[in-house]
Amino acid sequence: MPHFRCFWYIAAESRALRRQPLRCNVLDEELVLWRADDGRAIAMPDRCLHRCARLSSGRVEGGRLHCRYHGWGYDAAGQVVHIPAEGGCPAGGRKLESPPFETCEQDGYVYVRLAKPANAARDVPPFAMPHWQAPGWGRVRLVNRFDADVADCIENYIDVPHTAFVHAKLFRVSQGERIAATVIRENGMVRVVYHGERGNLGFWRHFLNPGNAPVVHEDHFYQPNITSVRYHLANGYQFIITSQSVPSQGRQTLVYTDLSYRFGWFTALAWPFVRRAGQQVIDQDIDILAEQGEVVARHGRHYRYSAPDRIHRCVDEIRDAIARGEDARCLPPQTFEIEFYV
Ligand code: FES
Ligand SMILES: [Fe+2]
Repeated sequence: MPHFRCFWYIAAESRALRRQPLRCNVLDEELVLWRADDGRAIAMPDRCLHRCARLSSGRVEGGRLHCRYHGWGYDAAGQVVHIPAEGGCPAGGRKLESPPFETCEQDGYVYVRLAKPANAARDVPPFAMPHWQAPGWGRVRLVNRFDADVADCIENYIDVPHTAFVHAKLFRVSQGERIAATVIRENGMVRVVYHGERGNLGFWRHFLNPGNAPVVHEDHFYQPNITSVRYHLANGYQFIITSQSVPSQGRQTLVYTDLSYRFGWFTALAWPFVRRAGQQVIDQDIDILAEQGEVVARHGRHYRYSAPDRIHRCVDEIRDAIARGEDARCLPPQTFEIEFYV
C-alpha cells in the first residue's frame, strides 16, 4: 500500500511520549518514537544500525537515544554520535540510511508521515479534531486494538444498521423505523446526512432525548482513515465520535477514539459515564470485527450490498483511488439518496 504512506497517522498520544522511547507500528513499519531535548518528537526505524536491537527498548539521555545492547547513541537527525566501544566519540559516517520520518503534534496526538506526497498539491494535513479544548465541551479519549483491517473498522463506525444488533439496547433498538439519508462523495470525503431520525438511542434516550424529538445526525469519512459521527439533539446537546484508524501490523488496526460532548450543566460530570458506555460499545465492535476479520482473512473481502451499504461503497471508492496512486479529491462528486429500516 505505498500510496497510503503519504498521509499523517497518529503514532502516539502526546502525553504518552515523555522521557523514554515508545515503540509503535504504522503500516507495517516498526518505529521508535522519542523526544529530543527541544521537545520535538522524533520517529526512526526501531532497529539499531549496529546489531539490530530494538531502539525502543533503549533510553533517552542527554538529548540522545541510546541502544540498550552496546550503548550506541543517536541524535535527532539519526546520526550515531556515541559508541562506547570506540571511546565515546565515533568516527563519522554511521547514520540512518534516510532521515527520521516527519512528525508533527496536534490536538494532543503525535502524528507521523512515512513518505512525502509526490507533489505539494497532494498534501493532506492531519485531521483537526472538532472542538479540541473548546469551552463547554468534554472529551473522552480511548485507544483500542482491533484484529481487523482499516477498511472494515471504518465501515463499522459509520454503519447504522449494525448498531441495533451488535449494540442492541445500549445504542439502538431494532424497531423497523424508516430512515432516509443523503450520501455525498466529494473532495476525498463522504458525508451522510440522515433525515427524519428520531430518538432511537437505546438506553441513552432517557437521558439524551426523553421527548423523542427529531435528531440531527451527520456522519463523515475523511480520507484515508477518519470517521466522525455527529448527533445534535433538540435540547442543544451535542455528541461527536471521531475515530482515527491507524494501520498497524498485518491486519491489526489501532483505533484512537475521541468522544466529545456538550451536555449542558451535566458536561462536567459526564466523563465516567461517557467513558464506560463508549468502551462498552467499542468492546462489542472489537468482538464482531475479530470474527469478521478471521473469515475475511480466509476468504477475501467479497461483500454483497444492501441499501445503506452505499455509504461503504463510497468509502471504498475513495480508498481504492488512493491505492491506485490517484488524488481521491479529484473523483467526480456523486450524491445518492438512500433509505433503510432500523
Ligand atoms: S545493537 Fe545497538 S548498540 Fe549494539
Ligand atoms: Fe459499532
